[in-house]
Amino acid sequence: MKTLFLALALISVSLVSCAQDITLPAAQRSGGMPLMEALNNRKSTRQFDENKQLTHQQLADLLWSACGYNREDKLTIPTALNRQEITVYAIMPDGVYRYDARNNALVLITDQDLRHLAGAQEFAQKALLNIAIVSDKSKMEHDIYAGVAAGAVMQNIYLWCASNGIGTVARGNFDGEALAKALNLDENQRVLLVQTVGY
Ligand SMILES: Cc1cc2nc3c(=O)[nH]c(=O)nc-3n(C[C@H](O)[C@H](O)[C@H](O)COP(=O)(O)O)c2cc1C
Repeated sequence: MKTLFLALALISVSLVSCAQDITLPAAQRSGGMPLMEALNNRKSTRQFDENKQLTHQQLADLLWSACGYNREDKLTIPTALNRQEITVYAIMPDGVYRYDARNNALVLITDQDLRHLAGAQEFAQKALLNIAIVSDKSKMEHDIYAGVAAGAVMQNIYLWCASNGIGTVARGNFDGEALAKALNLDENQRVLLVQTVGY
């Protein structure tokens, strides 16, 4: 009886929440489609499979492409004065994670499904992955430069998707204040774009 009670207790705990930090596999930094073909294939798509998720390897490759470290202290995107003011967040059904580029990990921010805040368009609220591109004024005070860096992240995501036959669309259509609050951003941080990614 005692064992049964313990087993039931363990099952109920595991059902309450199973979201946790994720250590990503090392990104594959070679291969892929030739750049000119990826540029030729780059496009926005607005229909996403609501069941087929990216693997952790694909997530690692995508996020590294978006704004990972490709040298000791430099990123796959250029930033003015190397301020590195952009952070990306992965909004997924089991929670929201911050991409920790230095440690190649997804740090759990909340285990709540916040996809309803990913954008006004219905496909965004149902997609399995939205990437919030967030700037930090305490690192880069010039909004335009931060916007330029966010644009570089956006295009890297577009090109990775084009190279891998995966759909994506960058979106400005979301409630920035509600999303910032839900992501626990501080007063210097701002969501500049949300990009839906998926099959
Ligand atoms: C800053 C920015 C904001 C955008 N916002 C939205 C949006 O809110 N919703 C949407 O469906 N597409 C959005 N787009 C995608 C554009 O509509 C799309 O890039 C444009 O129609 C050209 O299509 P293409 O990307 O297939 O070349 C945005 C693109 C950019 C660069």
